[in-house]
Amino acid sequence: MNPYTLVFGKEPAQMISRHMQTAEIIDTFNSDNPSQQVYIITGVRGAGKTVLMTDVARRLQKNDIWITVELNPERDMLETLVSKLSSNHTLAKLFQSAKINLSLFGFGLEVSGEAPVSDLEIALGKMLESLKKHGKRLLIMVDEAMNSKAMKTFIHSFQILVRQDLPVFLLMTGLYDNIDNLQNEKSLTFLYRAPKIVLRPLNIGTIAANYKKNLPVTESEALKMAKMTKGYSFAFQVLGYFCWQQGSLNDAVMEDYRQYLEEYVYEKIWTELSQNDRKIVFGIANCSTGKISEIRSFLKMETNQFNPYRKRLIRKGIINGEEYGYVFFTLPLFEKFVLENYFEASVTTNPGPMRS
Ligand SMILES: Nc1ncnc2c1ncn2[C@@H]1O[C@H](COP(=O)(O)OP(=O)(O)OP(=O)(O)O)[C@@H](O)[C@H]1O
Ligand SMILES: [Mg+2]
Repeated sequence: MNPYTLVFGKEPAQMISRHMQTAEIIDTFNSDNPSQQVYIITGVRGAGKTVLMTDVARRLQKNDIWITVELNPERDMLETLVSKLSSNHTLAKLFQSAKINLSLFGFGLEVSGEAPVSDLEIALGKMLESLKKHGKRLLIMVDEAMNSKAMKTFIHSFQILVRQDLPVFLLMTGLYDNIDNLQNEKSLTFLYRAPKIVLRPLNIGTIAANYKKNLPVTESEALKMAKMTKGYSFAFQVLGYFCWQQGSLNDAVMEDYRQYLEEYVYEKIWTELSQNDRKIVFGIANCSTGKISEIRSFLKMETNQFNPYRKRLIRKGIINGEEYGYVFFTLPLFEKFVLENYFEASVTTNPGPMRS
């Protein structure tokens, strides 16, 4: 069976560890006096946000003080949480012995009328107090968080629970724009300073060693392949997958690799960029040196015009700006894709505001 996977959001069999980032979250959440009860994992599509979140939860669960629940940001989150907790057999017993009457929250419940949210909040507070007494901690996971109504209501209650010193922890993932939007929501000041884990490329040496171990390639081919992925998680799986399938590193593998990246991720990333972002990205794709001064002169832009775009593209995880005066794409073969897909917006497609 092919050791590599093309599936998103599931822990892959071949996994390159993110030791530092995993440890940061786990050590903080496990400490006696946690300095943080929230972490936000962000990064470009296919960077491995969902996989990291799942991995952290799995590691925490090895210690049975942890109870983990995943919530959908588009549904009533408090209600789901209360119902998930009370339907857990072991927990239900704890709540019963603590004399928490949850009958109101059964099916066909009569909480209409007054403020049901605050009731849910109180129920949750009592549940968490009872968990605290038994030395347990609750980890709530939210994949692909965004500034939805359900999310805002939930975060609001969450911050109250944290203030009450209850053992509740939140691990979220999200694309830069969605997270930024949520963090800048005025009613959620508490999230504003929540620490972010920004996903960086996977270690190239570890990728090379993984390829060497699993594929019929030489050591130098394995290293060449690892460099070709630029450490981008999805690319690591795709290149490994096609090389294993075809039994050697050949042109057909490269062609499948490029096409798969484009169809499964780059097209999606592209549709999520504004026309201005695309123009900047096109400028970057045109200058193989990565030198900002060259890119700017190609685009006919001043530094102060270019900088905001540069920063945003870095935060989205599309370019890397670690080297002073330069920017580079973080995604393999992305420049080729951009050069082939960029079309200048014609005046007719964007007529601007109508005048009467
Ligand atoms: N640490 C890792 N080692 C190896 N492969 C990984 C790792 N993390 C993720 N992957 C692979 O990368 C791909 C994308 O992972 P994942 O679904 O976690 O991305 P994501 O950031 O959640 O993307 P999206 O924003 O689209 O939800 C999957 O094929 C997964 O198997
Ligand atoms: Mg995901």
